[in-house]
Amino acid sequence: MRGLPDPRQQLVQTFGNGGETWVVSAPGRVNLIGEHIDYHGLPVLPIAIGRRIRVAFRARTDRRIRAVSAEEYGLREFEWTPRLAPTAAGDWENYLRAAAEAVGRKWGAGAGVDAAVVSDLPPAAGLASSSALMVAFTLGLLRANQRRASFEELMEILPEGEQFVGTRGGGMDHAAVLASREGCASLIEFEPLAVRPIPVPADWRFLVAHSLQTAEKSGAAREEYNARRAAGTAVLKRLGFISYRAAMEEASCPEKLPPGPERESFLHVTSEAWRVRAAVQAMEQNDAGTFGRLLLESHTSLRDRLRVSSPALDQLVETAVESGALGARLTGAGLGGCAVVFCQKRDLAAVRRGLIDRYYAGHPDFDPDRHLIDAQPGPGALHLA
Ligand code: GLA
Repeated sequence: MRGLPDPRQQLVQTFGNGGETWVVSAPGRVNLIGEHIDYHGLPVLPIAIGRRIRVAFRARTDRRIRAVSAEEYGLREFEWTPRLAPTAAGDWENYLRAAAEAVGRKWGAGAGVDAAVVSDLPPAAGLASSSALMVAFTLGLLRANQRRASFEELMEILPEGEQFVGTRGGGMDHAAVLASREGCASLIEFEPLAVRPIPVPADWRFLVAHSLQTAEKSGAAREEYNARRAAGTAVLKRLGFISYRAAMEEASCPEKLPPGPERESFLHVTSEAWRVRAAVQAMEQNDAGTFGRLLLESHTSLRDRLRVSSPALDQLVETAVESGALGARLTGAGLGGCAVVFCQKRDLAAVRRGLIDRYYAGHPDFDPDRHLIDAQPGPGALHLA
């Protein structure tokens, strides 16, 4: 992993010397299991990873928000007014605006900030870099305005606020980015909201492997995402349940459903929720074989029932297993993006090598620093110094 530069230097270089400065750090996340079920209120099991976004902040006395990114994104500046509107689609300023708007809606617009952002979290790589940026900026604005927000309050404003940028996922990404603990996966429950840290056995290793096909969060992929979400909700209504939790207490409901996408969607959601439970148990019992099998079953269900895989992701998963991984599956929304690969520490080098030789060979765009990432469970933003 590259060393992350100190964003305070960038802050001083861009905006000159000034008053008290503080740094907020927000990690990326990778979901181990529990895919396309967070938005139905069912538990998921992600980890926060070592790659992260760091932002240095200084409070201003007016309402101006100025931010610079050390990457190629450049300087942005706007006035923090009540009811902010998005700027041009795809511009990173929208994440800053989304954070300001989320804070503003709940507590009112406040004092602005000067901020500098550094990151070793690759964007558009399925690692929730946009949620990490939004979390870091939200925490910075709150601190600049001497406001303390609880985890619950943050979870109230953040997933909703990301809608501002055109994406409204479930709550998994923000919860993982905020509340993960070093060395642990996070069992995130939504009804009611709770995060239970599950220690990851010391010799378990995870890789995030990019398929090299990007699923842009806007456009077609977003429509597909929303369609999956809508189908899952429609079938629940048709069956007369108020929630998937309630549906799971009754085993016989799929029989009432004719074959088709709604039935498949229902079966994915309910079976994935059972796999999360079993995966937590396997992790607690250090049962790597079972954990790996559950990841593979999850991938099969996402591929065949929910149809959110792609030939490239399927090939990536297959290659990982052929190279010695105990399990692998697409992670995140799918339709491109990344797979999470699980193996024992002793097999890590062979799995990496196998993926490079058999999957990435012949792809001149392959960059190991961005596309094949060691993902060990790290702390979330609320638990980082
Ligand atoms: C995206 C969303 C998450 C979750 C996953 C699918 O990553 O941001 O909230 O819904 O898709 O599990």
